[in-house]
Amino acid sequence: MKPRDTFTNAKQLVNQSTAEASLFPQELADWETMMADERDEKLRLYCEKPLRFEEYTVVYTLYHRMQWLNAFAACGLPKDAIVLEVGSGSTPSIPKALTFYDKTAEYITANMNKELTQGLRRNTANLPVSIQVIEDDANNILQHLTPNSVDAVVFEHSVNDVLQAMLGEQMGLDTTNGDWFELLPQMIAFIKDAYRDGTLEAKLKAPFLSLLQNCLSVLKPGGCFLMSHYMFQYDLDLGYDPDLWQDIIPVIRPWLAKLPGAEFTVDGFDPQWWLFYRK
Ligand SMILES: C[S@@+](CC[C@H](N)C(=O)[O-])C[C@H]1O[C@@H](n2cnc3c(N)ncnc32)[C@H](O)[C@@H]1O
Repeated sequence: MKPRDTFTNAKQLVNQSTAEASLFPQELADWETMMADERDEKLRLYCEKPLRFEEYTVVYTLYHRMQWLNAFAACGLPKDAIVLEVGSGSTPSIPKALTFYDKTAEYITANMNKELTQGLRRNTANLPVSIQVIEDDANNILQHLTPNSVDAVVFEHSVNDVLQAMLGEQMGLDTTNGDWFELLPQMIAFIKDAYRDGTLEAKLKAPFLSLLQNCLSVLKPGGCFLMSHYMFQYDLDLGYDPDLWQDIIPVIRPWLAKLPGAEFTVDGFDPQWWLFYRK
């Protein structure tokens, strides 16, 4: 696997500020009970290996949160920012990072799957940032938000989900009302077949660009797309093509060429796993 990060960079990130400034109380308690060499060993694993469920510890939380805090800063996200996430599922990592970036920020998610949306509502219930949930396809975002109204659009480990859902819907799956994780093996099989038989771009580039174009419309001039990806072992175990799983960002990068904005790079963020794009 291409490394997710260098150990030096990962270590710098977790040491960038005090853990108190970036962790919630229970997370901080977990951090403080872990020995320094155990923290280092876990960080090394995150850099070198696909992420496993059992490796979701507070070390990962802190590393991941610091990455996002730095990513927001690299985009120049202002105070009171409005951030739209596409395909959050039930994962609250972006609203939690925003809480540490600026409590007065406003978080919006466009998330299709009904059950996961309920999970997100539960997982964000006690956060101080304002939360708005749009239960719809992000391709329809202009039906919900006004043009030039958000400061950033985040795809946190969701470019793959958006592509898989598009292909799944084309193949007759109902990814909105169905159980996402029951449907996942089929979505993975469809995307693997499309990648291997060379039809991925023909099937997905146009609908993906339509979604990005609509998200670009709601972005303020100067606002950013922030896309991140990394490898879960779970998806590999379900049969994801390892090359595609690793190269999700490099695969879609050339598709963005005709959009009216520009990619930029940020020191410390590997373009293998991150894509920053300014309107
Ligand atoms: C597994 S969850 C995402 C998890 C999360 N991003 C993470 O950190 O791994 C995938 C979610 O993406 C949503 N999704 C996929 N395509 C979407 C689209 N076009 N618009 C909105 N949500 C979408 C699905 O409905 C589902 O809730």
